[in-house]
Amino acid sequence: MSNEKFIALSLPNMAGNEWKYVKDCLDTGWISSVGEYVNRFEKMVADFAGAKYGVAAVNGTAALHISLLLSGVKANDYVILPNLTFVASANSIKYVGADPILIDADPLLWQMDLDLLEEFLENETDEKDGSLFYIKDGRRIAAIMPVHILGNMCDMDRFLSIVKKYPIAIVEDSTEALGTTYKGKSGGTFSPMGCFSFNGNKIISTGGGGVIITDDEKLAKKAKHITTTAKASPDEYYHDEVGYNYRLVNVLAAIGVAQMELLPSFIKRKKECVSYYKSNLNGVADIRFQKELPDVKTNGWLFTIQTDKQQKLLDHLNKNKILSRRFWMPMNKLPMYKDCVYVQGKDNSDYIYNTCLSIPSSTGITDEELEIVVQEIKNAIG
Ligand SMILES: Cc1ncc(COP(=O)(O)O)c(C=O)c1O
Repeated sequence: MSNEKFIALSLPNMAGNEWKYVKDCLDTGWISSVGEYVNRFEKMVADFAGAKYGVAAVNGTAALHISLLLSGVKANDYVILPNLTFVASANSIKYVGADPILIDADPLLWQMDLDLLEEFLENETDEKDGSLFYIKDGRRIAAIMPVHILGNMCDMDRFLSIVKKYPIAIVEDSTEALGTTYKGKSGGTFSPMGCFSFNGNKIISTGGGGVIITDDEKLAKKAKHITTTAKASPDEYYHDEVGYNYRLVNVLAAIGVAQMELLPSFIKRKKECVSYYKSNLNGVADIRFQKELPDVKTNGWLFTIQTDKQQKLLDHLNKNKILSRRFWMPMNKLPMYKDCVYVQGKDNSDYIYNTCLSIPSSTGITDEELEIVVQEIKNAIG
């Protein structure tokens, strides 16, 4: 690793009992796929989000994959997805043999556009024998995956009132939204199964990891079973279906337990960064912020600004060792998803991609570093 001083985008912050708990795993030999830390971590995440059960997985993508499988999505089905998301959401749909139907982004919230979703469901789908079909090709639409982009959320009451009229499953990609609430209810609890990610840049990190949360005991048991190679006997290698080796190992769950202890302080720090940036960047050049609905309290995961001078700002910040990053390239621009059905409004996804950039938001960022970031943004485009 280079010693060069830079201000990172969103670094993991190992400030608590991580060493102690990992050492405990190493000292006792409980480093692998079973162990007390896995159970504790699952419970801590579920409790924090207000769900009954948590099932750990190797990463958020695996958590999404299993949730889609258990929601009954099958090969050749469709799953509705925002066009603006991280590629893992779309990939998890492909893993079950389905294809995404992509919905353009809301210009202000940057989440799935609910007007377009409503129009699409009303005009382009047909219900028959308890299933929903895409009229144009007759293929079944089995599910929808809302993604709480940047830890923000759309109007979830409206989302649910639109979607619940149709016989489709909801699988929530809440990977970025641990700590975000809508009317006091946590991201990940608006669907039978919600998924979190704990990769290196998330609000808490286990290096790599994920958790599925659910209130349904049967789903939780099934998820645990299928993520642990579907081993059906404690005594011998009897597996009763094709399972996955998706379980998070104890040594990483140990980091997760320590990180969960720190989560409230991380959310507090993220929110301090958000308010610092908002008050100091408001009115600078043409900078705009992602809209937050009054009912939503975001976790402030990764602060992202919008400016038509995106490239100039990006170049300046990166040249000055302030790591900043453009938004994800929309799914309809990627080779494997370019031919998907794209329910497009004004192609806001493209506009957001071309105008937004995320700026340093690590929980360990110092006040001095925040000042430097703001100053350099002003130097570049102010
Ligand atoms: C929106 C979104 N979906 C899915 C994932 C996948 O999570 P992971 O990287 O843990 O597999 C991520 C995080 O990387 C994400 O940001």
